[in-house]
Amino acid sequence: MEKRIEEAMNRQINMEYESAYLYLAMSLDAETKGMTGLSQWMFIQWLEELDHARILQKYMLSRGARIDLFSINVVEQKSWKNAFDMIKDSLEHERNVTKSINGLMKMAKELDDFATCSRLQWFVDEQVEEEESMRDVLGMLIMVSDCKASLLQYDRWLGERKYLQKSA
Ligand SMILES: [Fe+2]
Repeated sequence: MEKRIEEAMNRQINMEYESAYLYLAMSLDAETKGMTGLSQWMFIQWLEELDHARILQKYMLSRGARIDLFSINVVEQKSWKNAFDMIKDSLEHERNVTKSINGLMKMAKELDDFATCSRLQWFVDEQVEEEESMRDVLGMLIMVSDCKASLLQYDRWLGERKYLQKSA
């Protein structure tokens, strides 16, 4: 693997761990505010980000590349005003992750690293799903925002999300 893409992939692994950390912070905040469904939903998001990092690591190892684990930045925001703000920030975060994955894909293409392009295609598709699920939750939150009972019902529904280990 070329050094340039190896380093960029390492930065992506770090970004996945930072995503995980962000969603864990959100899960904890939601729990303290009594939104137990949203907390569970974010907890699964945390697990999925760890899967993303693991999938990248596995690929790097199979290519004989070096994996460097960097320090993870502290999540500066500890509290979100409401579920809407939390999901809005999550969507923005996922859009940044998508940009980063697209940048990696561009680099892999420039380097004619077709194996990395193939692995990254999974992440390109995964980001479509990630942004879609954040947009879906955001849309639903806008719909139920005027009605406390509906909001409670929706929180319960979010809590039913099940974790399925991601594999590529
Ligand atoms: Fe991710």
